[in-house]
Amino acid sequence: MPMTTESTDRRVDKLIHLLVKNATVVVPGPKIASEIGVTRFKVFGWMENLRSLGVEIRGVRGEGYQLVTIPDILVPSLVRAELGDHPIGHSIIHFFRTDSTNAVALKLAADGAEHGTVVVAEEQTAGRGRLGRTWFSEKSTGIYISIILRPPLAPAAAPVLTLMAGLAAQKAVSSVTGLAVDIRWPNDLLVHGKKVCGILTEMSAEVDRLHAVVLGIGINVNHSLMPVDLENIGTSLRMEAHRGISRIQVLVTLLREIERHYQLLLKSGNKAITERWEAASTFAHGKRVRVVTAVGEVLATTTGLDPSGALKIQYDDGSQEFLMAGEVVEVKQNIP
Ligand code: BTN
Repeated sequence: MPMTTESTDRRVDKLIHLLVKNATVVVPGPKIASEIGVTRFKVFGWMENLRSLGVEIRGVRGEGYQLVTIPDILVPSLVRAELGDHPIGHSIIHFFRTDSTNAVALKLAADGAEHGTVVVAEEQTAGRGRLGRTWFSEKSTGIYISIILRPPLAPAAAPVLTLMAGLAAQKAVSSVTGLAVDIRWPNDLLVHGKKVCGILTEMSAEVDRLHAVVLGIGINVNHSLMPVDLENIGTSLRMEAHRGISRIQVLVTLLREIERHYQLLLKSGNKAITERWEAASTFAHGKRVRVVTAVGEVLATTTGLDPSGALKIQYDDGSQEFLMAGEVVEVKQNIP
């Protein structure tokens, strides 16, 4: 069974589905073997591997196997059971472990993977963040996905696609958890001022045509604590909501919201997204921020979004700029 960088065997996915469907009964080993099309010996080996991933399976000598509990794993059959047939997620490629779902998705896109393909991993060994950073990807606690889109748009639309993804993620996270979720330009999700979700958009394009856009989304869902170097700036949904959160529910809601906002962008254009983003983020207007770019840091105040997706800012000397790249960090003002 693939535990490394190979995508999850469809037969393992089928095995999990079979156990879930028959969770109240003991399923005979030969029945499992014949339904999946492998030997009983192979079934035995896979059961052992699933147990090592936290799936509790009762083995009854001479009778078969029964599922006791299954952790919240994001294998395609379980996601599809909730999602149904859906344009985004029509094809789901699952890994128990990979380097980066964005790296995998970019390769798949170059090989012709269809619009709406979703790459999901339980764990990433080299999760990529924005601005050359890494993304902490603890096993089976977060959501690590990359969505391949093939929009009929020019490369100039990429910033709005990025905002669109942040907006969709905000709607999904707040509706599943009930938490108040803010969006920091361009698309970090914050809860109580700390980051719970980051989005890295990568693409392949010609001068006037996008071939493929990969939306890489990382959400801290059930982490019970953050690593020391992130604890002041990052948090998880579980830590903020004080309860465990279903990763499948967040993922399925996210895929639906991405589809809804993507259609809105195609039908109604950039402004439909930028206006909604402005309404959804406290960073859009009047926020005192530190603007961090490749050349340094400067204080400024935000003054809204341009329809291209750029963040409009005013520096303290009165000059204005449209920010296309970099990041902003809130500056807490001292109230006398
Ligand atoms: C950020 O720096 O805020 C963006 C983080 C994006 C992380 C996600 S996790 C899934 C996907 N695969 C990656 O390697 N990165 C993105």
